[in-house]
Amino acid sequence: MTTNILVTGSTRGIGAAIVAALSAGDVRVVGHGSRSRDGVIGVNLEQAGAGDELWDKALAALGGRIDVLINNAGVFEAAAVDLPLADWQAQWSRTMAINLQAAADLCRRAVVHFRERPGGGRIVNVASRAAYRGDSPAHWHYAAAKAGMVGMTKSIARGFARDDILAFTVTPGFVMTGMAEEYVASRGGDKLLADIPLGRVAQPDEVANAVAYLALQAPASMTGAVIDINGASFVR
Ligand SMILES: NC(=O)c1ccc[n+]([C@@H]2O[C@H](COP(=O)([O-])OP(=O)(O)OC[C@H]3O[C@@H](n4cnc5c(N)ncnc54)[C@H](OP(=O)(O)O)[C@@H]3O)[C@@H](O)[C@H]2O)c1
Repeated sequence: MTTNILVTGSTRGIGAAIVAALSAGDVRVVGHGSRSRDGVIGVNLEQAGAGDELWDKALAALGGRIDVLINNAGVFEAAAVDLPLADWQAQWSRTMAINLQAAADLCRRAVVHFRERPGGGRIVNVASRAAYRGDSPAHWHYAAAKAGMVGMTKSIARGFARDDILAFTVTPGFVMTGMAEEYVASRGGDKLLADIPLGRVAQPDEVANAVAYLALQAPASMTGAVIDINGASFVR
C-alpha cells in the first residue's frame, strides 16, 4: 500500500531533500511551508493552532490517511543576551512556537490518528546536535527547543510503542542548506570546519537519506532512537 507522508518545511534545504529521498519509495507526500505555493500547503507555524490547521489540511489532501509525520520545519534565529527583555522573550516565543509547539501539536494529532487504526504509524522529528551539545551564546532558545523535541520524541516512542506507533529523532550538526561560503561564514567561518573531524559540513541529502530510512524502513525495535549526523563533531 502507498505510504502517505506529511513533511513540514519542505520548500527548501533539508525538507526539500527529504521529499526527494522519499520519492524513491511507493509514497504520496504532502509538503508544507510558511505560505502556499504549488503543491505545498501554506501554514505559518508561529501562529497558535497552526499544527492542528496543518494536520487537517494535510489529512484532507491525503484522502483521510496519514502514515508518517516528518517534523522538519524550523528557524535558527539569534536572541542575544543584551536584547531588551521584551525582544528577547519575543524571540524565545517565536522559536519555541515554530520549533517545538507546532511539532508537538502535530505529533499529538498523529498519535491520536495512528491509535485509531491497525498498523499504527511513524513520526520522524528533525532536531539538532544543539539538543545535546548546546549552541552559540545567542541560541539558547534554539538548543532548548531541540532538546525539548528529543525528550518529546522519546516519550512518544515509549508511551505508544504498544500501539505500533514508532518515533525517531535525527540530530544533525551543520548542514549546508545555503550558499556554501555564506553558510560557513554565518556559522563561524573556518573555526566551524576545524571543529568537524570529517572536515566538512553535512549535505542535505545525507540527513534526508537517514530520515527516509527511519520513515519507511527502520525496524520497529529502533523506536526511540536518536540518529546523530554531524561528522563526529559531537560523539556521545
Ligand atoms: N541547516 C542546518 O545546519 C541544520 C542543522 C541542524 C538542524 N537543522 C534543522 O533542520 C530543519 C530544516 O533546516 P534547514 O536548514 O533545511 O532550514 P531552511 O532551509 O531554513 O528551511 C526551513 C523550512 O522551514 C519552513 N519554515 C520556517 N519558518 C516557518 C514558519 N513560521 N511556518 C512554517 N514553515 C516555516 C520554511 O518554509 P518557507 O520556505 O515557507 O519559509 C522551510 O521550508 C530545521 O528544523 C533545523 O532546525 C538544520
